[in-house]
Amino acid sequence: MTEPTAPLVEFITSVRSPLLVLGGSGKMGPSLAAMAKRAAALAGVELRVIALSRFSDQAARRWLEERGVETLACDLLDPAHVAALPDADDIIYMAGRKFGTTDNPALTWAMNMLPPEYVCRRFPNARVVALSTGCVYPLIPVEQGGSREEDPLTPIGEYSNACVARERVFEYLATTTGTRVCLIRLNYALDLRYGVLVDIALKVLSGAPIDLTVGYLNAIWQRDANAMIIRALSLAQSPAFPLNLTGPETLSVRAVAQRFGELFRREPIFAGTESPVALLNDSGKAHQLLGLPETSIEQVIRWTANWLEHQGRVLGKPTHYEVADGRY
Ligand SMILES: NC(=O)c1ccc[n+]([C@@H]2O[C@H](COP(=O)([O-])OP(=O)(O)OC[C@H]3O[C@@H](n4cnc5c(N)ncnc54)[C@H](OP(=O)(O)O)[C@@H]3O)[C@@H](O)[C@H]2O)c1
Repeated sequence: MTEPTAPLVEFITSVRSPLLVLGGSGKMGPSLAAMAKRAAALAGVELRVIALSRFSDQAARRWLEERGVETLACDLLDPAHVAALPDADDIIYMAGRKFGTTDNPALTWAMNMLPPEYVCRRFPNARVVALSTGCVYPLIPVEQGGSREEDPLTPIGEYSNACVARERVFEYLATTTGTRVCLIRLNYALDLRYGVLVDIALKVLSGAPIDLTVGYLNAIWQRDANAMIIRALSLAQSPAFPLNLTGPETLSVRAVAQRFGELFRREPIFAGTESPVALLNDSGKAHQLLGLPETSIEQVIRWTANWLEHQGRVLGKPTHYEVADGRY
């Protein structure tokens, strides 16, 4: 998961030290930060990588430090904390809030909207790759293939709209402060410990019904996504540059479950039928600019099946990919 790709090892020589990873202790940040560190070592360059978050998960902090990544506790909702951050020219912005939106929508809006302003004002000369999400688009007819960067951002639900707001604040600041920004509209990173494949596989294993209403999705192996996210620093610009990031194929939830069924020698149980719309994004532009992901979905399915059959650790953080009404 943290092994750098060859294009990343080449690119890392152009990254300025220190690389800040804001929101670097979540599901993606630790493996991205460790990968940046490994890429620099392989390229023979000195690169300090600093992961920042409130570190509500102390285990993530220890894991990062064991891999040579420096850590700094900060609350990005506090402008004084952002003002005190170390100077940097290159930043990966991964902070955000999704789950718990139904209970506390105000915090979701604040967390997704306010720190982008503080960060851009603090770092007007930086290149920032800011994680957004594919759910800034509405559900679209499956036969359309996927939303493109120029399509309208009219999703349903407070979380998705707060993510549109996060993008708009970055976009506004990129033109006012001059901070160069690349907005990554990511659809489902796949890890062995969480992700849509883990969600589906666990249901096949336990015999729980698999809801087919949201019957199609896109996904990308997290190692490939993280390597491309770091390389997207080269695409950061003012005005901000939005880029979809996911795998090249539309995955059928039914077909993925059936494949896990074959591997586990268990018949998946389905509920409902596929609706004609789904959350899909077309990553053609990213593949043109950064190349195709190296890892096939079939490979990730096999790894996931093997991991779960051997009681590999899972985070217990379901993606809720089956949510169609935008309520998280
Ligand atoms: N994983 C995916 O499949 C996926 C798909 C689409 C989009 N994305 C986007 O990619 C980004 C990274 O994904 P992820 O799955 O790693 O997210 P995550 O697990 O939710 O991690 C969020 C990070 O933000 C930090 N954070 C939250 N509130 C903070 C605050 N007030 N101050 C400082 N740090 C704060 C969290 O650490 P603390 O709570 O300890 O502060 C954590 O490190 C997210 O913005 C998400 O929207 C991810």
